[in-house]
Amino acid sequence: MASIKEGYNQFLDTEEGGRAYNEFKDVLYTPGDTLVKTLNNEVARHLLSKKQGKVKICDIGGGDGKRITHILSFLAQQYPDLEFELDFVEQSKYFCTEFEKRKAEIPEVEVTVYHNLFEDVVDRLVKRSYDIVFLIHSIFAFQDESIVAKIHSLVKREGKIVFISNAQDSLLAQLKQKLDQGYADKRTEIGDIKKALSAQGIKYSSFIFDTKFCISQEDIETSFYKILNWLSLGRYQRISSEKAKEIKNLLISLGEEKDGVLNFTEQEEVLIIPPVKQLVNAGS
Ligand SMILES: C[S@@+](CC[C@H](N)C(=O)[O-])C[C@H]1O[C@@H](n2cnc3c(N)ncnc32)[C@H](O)[C@@H]1O
Repeated sequence: MASIKEGYNQFLDTEEGGRAYNEFKDVLYTPGDTLVKTLNNEVARHLLSKKQGKVKICDIGGGDGKRITHILSFLAQQYPDLEFELDFVEQSKYFCTEFEKRKAEIPEVEVTVYHNLFEDVVDRLVKRSYDIVFLIHSIFAFQDESIVAKIHSLVKREGKIVFISNAQDSLLAQLKQKLDQGYADKRTEIGDIKKALSAQGIKYSSFIFDTKFCISQEDIETSFYKILNWLSLGRYQRISSEKAKEIKNLLISLGEEKDGVLNFTEQEEVLIIPPVKQLVNAGS
């Protein structure tokens, strides 16, 4: 039986995979990217209070770098007295090449790109001692939860780690449960990270936010395809028509129809380490 974790990273190491991910994001998020807006509005201000001088940031699994570029542009604007340095870790060559083009959008930031699996460079990165480490939808292919201790060792004593992933039982989680049947392993999910943090006595804050998106009747076929093609790692067209129908019906049942438009809510969860008082649901 194949491994979903290996399949995930292999798919994202291709142009087809990179495109599938971006097409999926275009269905879920507005052009301004609601996820980045939530991060900037709700989380960013808790990350840099009292900080002076240079801020070292690590983005693990940064994809094509679109999100971290937006986040850094926002931070640089909000904190004009700070200097930003970014270490960008990404295993996909396709995405690293995309980010190499994009990084010109943040000329004020000193950027280093690591085209590597995080696991292969973590021992080098520990010495860099970061103020902030981001993991935005990039935990799924981690081999096991021992990675959490390594991530924890990357930050300075007063540094912050931010994980973002789909919440347990969210719309995407339900679809993945169906699509991932038949693999030898499971994706690492936010619940696994929370368990690993608790097992190691690492405290965190958690908050859940809604990503709302809508699909009109005429876009249903294309938009559903984009969602399911990404989640199935490009295998959607190859699954049996019976299963495809079952999954499509599940997706329809998760939407609310109003005036010919299907409205959906995806729940995403943010974990911040160490906990931030102002954010709800501190865990340990
Ligand atoms: C779903 S994408 C998210 C990209 C970006 N953070 C975003 O929010 O758009 C996950 C990314 O993590 C990368 N990735 C997954 N596991 C990784 C690992 N162990 N080391 C480095 N990159 C990894 C994948 O190649 C992929 O580009």
